[in-house]
Amino acid sequence: MSGQQASHDELPFAARKTEDMPGHWLLARLGKLVLRPGGRELTEQLLDDAELSDADVLEIAPGLGKTARSIIDRNPKTYVGVESDSAAAGLTEDVVGDRGRVIPGDAAATGLDADSVVVAIGEAMLTMQSDRAKADIVAEAFRVLRPGGRYAIHELALHPDTLPDEAKTEIRKQLARSIKVNARPLTEQEWRKLLTDAGFEIAKVGFAKMALLQPRRVLADEGPLRTLKFVATCCATRTHAAASSACAPRSPSIGTNSRPSRSLP
Ligand SMILES: C[S@@+](CC[C@H](N)C(=O)[O-])C[C@H]1O[C@@H](n2cnc3c(N)ncnc32)[C@H](O)[C@@H]1O
Repeated sequence: MSGQQASHDELPFAARKTEDMPGHWLLARLGKLVLRPGGRELTEQLLDDAELSDADVLEIAPGLGKTARSIIDRNPKTYVGVESDSAAAGLTEDVVGDRGRVIPGDAAATGLDADSVVVAIGEAMLTMQSDRAKADIVAEAFRVLRPGGRYAIHELALHPDTLPDEAKTEIRKQLARSIKVNARPLTEQEWRKLLTDAGFEIAKVGFAKMALLQPRRVLADEGPLRTLKFVATCCATRTHAAASSACAPRSPSIGTNSRPSRSLP
């Protein structure tokens, strides 16, 4: 984007009809560009905790490149993004310019060398994967991270840990209906297990409210001008109801996970 607002043509799924668009790209079309459940503030905390300065950083699924900007601002030694949507990969490439590179591809098979990065960051992308794909992506993050490296994620969490299976199934069905994505949020315990099963140790977990479309959060995430534009676009396109239903789920989660040295048992 190079500091410029992306035009609608450049956004992923630009040719898709509004009613068939995945919720996150519909929001982006309307001008809501920060798409993580816990908002920009939680992202900034996550990035601070991940200690990016002078580190080799992998961003998994950077989307429109909003977090990529914040990562580059922290002066990593290197930046590489892996993004499956080619339009999104192009937008992130514009953001990072000559400070990094973006590989179009699957987060479960990045093609990066083993032990080649110190920090991996992934936001709002594991939630939308099947159980199998979640495990494959986390295993790939473990493979490419050097011993002692850090994997920081920002995803949707269900609360409480004891939520009955029927309730989880109902939430998934409603998400599929409203945001057109087979999202499968996990409880905190399930997220922990996913990561520890792959060999990670959990260093820190934090939470923020799932408030993607609450006015205060929109203002904090997008700033006054883009908020005004977002509201105006919602009204003008009369898709406000569809956008609101995209934020039906609650309970975001954030996890910062550090990997132990391989020499440890
Ligand atoms: C909800 S968006 C989040 C984008 C960005 N991380 C953010 O927080 O703004 C999800 C992103 O994940 C990407 N994605 C989904 N599955 C992927 C996969 N298996 N490999 C790489 N990227 C993937 C999508 O193309 C999309 O850009």
